[in-house]
Amino acid sequence: ATAPTSWDRPLDGKVAVVTGAARGIGATIAEVFARDGATVIVADIPAAGEALSQTANKVGGTALALDVTAPDAAEKLAEFATERFGGIDIVVHNAGITRDKLLANMDEGRWNSVLNVNLAAPHRITEGLVARGALKEGGRVIDVSSIAGIAGNRGQTNYGASKAGVIGMVDAEAPKLAEKGITINAVAPGFIETAMTAAIPLATREAGRLMSSLLQGGQTVDVAETIAYFASPASNAVTGNVVRVCGQSLI
Ligand code: NAI
Repeated sequence: ATAPTSWDRPLDGKVAVVTGAARGIGATIAEVFARDGATVIVADIPAAGEALSQTANKVGGTALALDVTAPDAAEKLAEFATERFGGIDIVVHNAGITRDKLLANMDEGRWNSVLNVNLAAPHRITEGLVARGALKEGGRVIDVSSIAGIAGNRGQTNYGASKAGVIGMVDAEAPKLAEKGITINAVAPGFIETAMTAAIPLATREAGRLMSSLLQGGQTVDVAETIAYFASPASNAVTGNVVRVCGQSLI
């Protein structure tokens, strides 16, 4: 086989969905996908409101108010994308939350909400899209794990468990999805400068930055470009993988 002479706009003609796309890593994924030629559906909770519209406008995409934990999230997404665009080629499960507390105070509410958004929802939506035939042959599923799912963080039992769960889920779903010509991979970012990490205590934040040998936090675009690889024809034969995006971290 010969290599393509050019991969200018490698996502031309593809329909991509990014959850949690109103801001942060998700908004940058949408930008990179649009640059690469994709038609982008940016989804976020209804409360994201104006921020979501702004992202959609910026990338020339379509906004969809979608809480990924809603029982009918897959159905809603499948219907929306099929009616407007004839289906989905790429789905990025980027929506994620933290509800940090030390173990003694890790109540069931915090545990459940983090596990629901970060782990149960991506699973339910992937299964629901596939069951409805909304995710096309040759489709791509990309999950967002975290370095916290590989090396634990104090106060993040729920978050670490959810992100470790994502890695197990990707591993288990890969052979099943391969039967339908769909790949599934994950990124595990280290400390990335977003609103999520700006909210954590200063000392923990500094420690997170220093774990990278670059001695600074990563940028959303670092994660987005790795995800763009998993979405592109360059990764046709790549499935069931987890790639860390942590600067030159020792973790
Ligand atoms: P962020 O908090 O800036 O953005 C997350 C977005 O997800 C928000 O727009 C929020 O409204 C949306 N969201 C939350 N719950 C939702 C729901 N139920 N349905 C739909 N949308 C929902 O976070 P950030 O930093 O951009 O993180 C994005 C992803 O990357 C998350 O999965 C996070 O766990 C993961 N990650 C982030 C790291 C970092 O250092 N910032 C490191 C490793 C992973």
